[in-house]
Amino acid sequence: MQREVLSQGWRLAFNRRGLVSFKCVQPTELLPRGIFVRTAFWGLGLIKGNEFQGNLEILVGRLREIGEAIQFDRFHIWPRDRAPVGHNDFEPGDDRVTRDLGKAVENVLVSEGFLKTAGFNRIAEPRHNVLDLVLVDPFHWAVGWHSVPQNDDLGVYEHTVSSMTLPMSWPGGVQPLTPSAPVVSRAYFKAAEAIAWSRFDLRKDQVAIEIGASPGGASERLLHLGLHVVGIDPAEICPKVLNHPSFQHIKARAGDLPRRVFTGADWLFVDSNVRPQQTLTTVENIVTHRGSTLKGFIITLKLPCLESVRDLPTWISRIKDWGAQDIKVRQLARGKMELCLAGRLGSVS
Ligand SMILES: C[S@@+](CC[C@H](N)C(=O)[O-])C[C@H]1O[C@@H](n2cnc3c(N)ncnc32)[C@H](O)[C@@H]1O
Repeated sequence: MQREVLSQGWRLAFNRRGLVSFKCVQPTELLPRGIFVRTAFWGLGLIKGNEFQGNLEILVGRLREIGEAIQFDRFHIWPRDRAPVGHNDFEPGDDRVTRDLGKAVENVLVSEGFLKTAGFNRIAEPRHNVLDLVLVDPFHWAVGWHSVPQNDDLGVYEHTVSSMTLPMSWPGGVQPLTPSAPVVSRAYFKAAEAIAWSRFDLRKDQVAIEIGASPGGASERLLHLGLHVVGIDPAEICPKVLNHPSFQHIKARAGDLPRRVFTGADWLFVDSNVRPQQTLTTVENIVTHRGSTLKGFIITLKLPCLESVRDLPTWISRIKDWGAQDIKVRQLARGKMELCLAGRLGSVS
């Protein structure tokens, strides 16, 4: 991520796991962007104290200094990542401390007139101005603001594009999602984020195929969206998903199946734990088949190591050869050492 941003003319400044700040070398109106940038905001400085009240007074003083009539549409507060995503069950997003602090800060922001409407960590809309507060530690705050881009503006980075519009409307770039009941696996959230970010128009009763479906988290999300799901995986599927009337399990490796299995499907999801080249070969054989009815695909490319991202331009040009359009790449907030890649196919209406 740092390499991406440094190449855009920024210089490294304060830096902790999950939070990297940069100084701009030249005046710019563009925030850093890229496939590894979860979200970005303009810094208003760090606040480091021993207790909440003192920090809050500094925050209010700083906001008074910068604006005659500054008012934010949203207030987003989140803790920096304290571990790599998925490591020891770590997931990005808010926690109890953040929620308690968020409520207390929000009350003051509203009473001081800095926040238009009460509430914190509500999803922002395009053009909203958002006050951002990252908890480096509970009493060490990084404060800033950003405006949510109006259009799905695509940041171009080395032959790839990564739309940040939607992630920049979510608190800390993490999609807020609270399913009404426990879900099969964390892949449920990853799939939800990927689907939202892709902006694919998934509709009820369409057919999605998922390669690498076990234990069934992503399939569960697709079923919740009303799709019929075919899950391909030699491994077992959780009974909750397996017994769903709209789910079919094909217990096999995708490469061993005849192409006709994929005919009639609208969307292809791939989340198999194999190398990117193998994933691409599997997808290529499916989407370039003349009987393909697919409208688009969302695939996870597991990176063997960070350096392997250098191959991304080669992967993208291979995907373009399939006739895919609107190719987008991003490390999802819930993604581990992997990239999410979305592309539309010719049969899209
Ligand atoms: C990260 S897990 C998938 C998680 C799953 N998407 C979910 O939502 O719960 C990776 C899966 O890929 C499967 N897999 C690996 N190679 C495969 C192949 N060639 N065809 C189908 N599945 C494969 C593995 O059996 C494993 O269950």
